[in-house]
Amino acid sequence: MIWDELKKPFLILAPMEGVTDIMFRQVIAKAGRPDLFFTEFTNVSSYASEKGRWNALERLETAPTDSPIIAQIWGKNPEHFAMCAKDLEKLGFSGIDLNFGCPDKHVNKAGGGAAMIKTPELAVECFRNASKSTNLPVSIKTRLGWDKKEEFEIWLKTLLSEHPAALTVHLRTKKEMSKVPAHYELIPEIVKLRSEISPQTKLIINGDIKDHAHTLELHQKYPEVDGFMIGRGVFANPYCFTDHQPTQEELMELLKLHLDLYEKYENMLSRSIFADVANTERPSPVTTGARERSEKACSHIFPYEPLKHFFKIYVNNFPGAKELRAKLMETHSVKEAKEILKKA
Ligand SMILES: Cc1cc2nc3c(=O)[nH]c(=O)nc-3n(C[C@H](O)[C@H](O)[C@H](O)COP(=O)(O)O)c2cc1C
Repeated sequence: MIWDELKKPFLILAPMEGVTDIMFRQVIAKAGRPDLFFTEFTNVSSYASEKGRWNALERLETAPTDSPIIAQIWGKNPEHFAMCAKDLEKLGFSGIDLNFGCPDKHVNKAGGGAAMIKTPELAVECFRNASKSTNLPVSIKTRLGWDKKEEFEIWLKTLLSEHPAALTVHLRTKKEMSKVPAHYELIPEIVKLRSEISPQTKLIINGDIKDHAHTLELHQKYPEVDGFMIGRGVFANPYCFTDHQPTQEELMELLKLHLDLYEKYENMLSRSIFADVANTERPSPVTTGARERSEKACSHIFPYEPLKHFFKIYVNNFPGAKELRAKLMETHSVKEAKEILKKA
């Protein structure tokens, strides 16, 4: 089981919706991989519906360099958790993580993410349903509480009593979003809870961790913590899982790789969808649907605009970076971006 194979203190790239997709994970693998990847979160009820499964499966695509990788899911319907967990085992993931911490208002309105903190019985039911449907280890990622950090004592106790394979605690409440410093001062109490209630559960700490050096500092201070998860640290330095300070050339190579991967997956996924529609006999994880629906979906699988959010990661902190970034932000396609880079 993956969680037992990881050496302490292990490092994880945090799941980040719209960021840690199949392309960005490969960029990070090239720069310096963490011990474990997570997918972006996928909604179990979308997966359970014919209309949404197609999109859900696309989010769950993985590349060979992703392995080992955990699939993260969210929702509020226990049956859908069971159904999704069962299928994820077939898709080759090393584990399943349940998101009980997302503060997004749409997610919370739908009863998922951090809203689970307010419905602990349902959270437990979803966890049990997922666990009994798969042989994969099931873990949980959550926050300290909904609006008071003191809630962690009861909430984490509830979760630990279910003995998840791993528990990642983002050291803030839902109300705090990411606006206050992470509450590192609570780590000793959380460690104690874990040791008392479920010593076999791996404890992972998340929030404001910058890079590898920072994880070593935290490990010295809190040796009982098993692993550390870095999210926004990759924006400041995509090499954050190593001690390497990248050169401008290395960052530009990562940008080129990201652009190449975008082109590769844009072509590959479009082709697989059309092949799937053309041959409904072929068993495929992609649910077959009407050609019209697939064609429509294809046109917005890979919108170019969101790709531009990544440019600042690579084109930053060197003379002329601001000007080059401004030119890249004016582009409308990978081809245009590549032409600008050729001239730079
Ligand atoms: C853009 C963005 C998207 C995120 N999407 C997810 C997600 O899909 N699942 C999840 O569990 N957390 C998600 N998070 C939260 C991160 O995983 C992490 O808990 C949070 O950023 C705190 O860690 P950090 O201070 O290292 O960034 C997201 C955060 C960001 C910034």
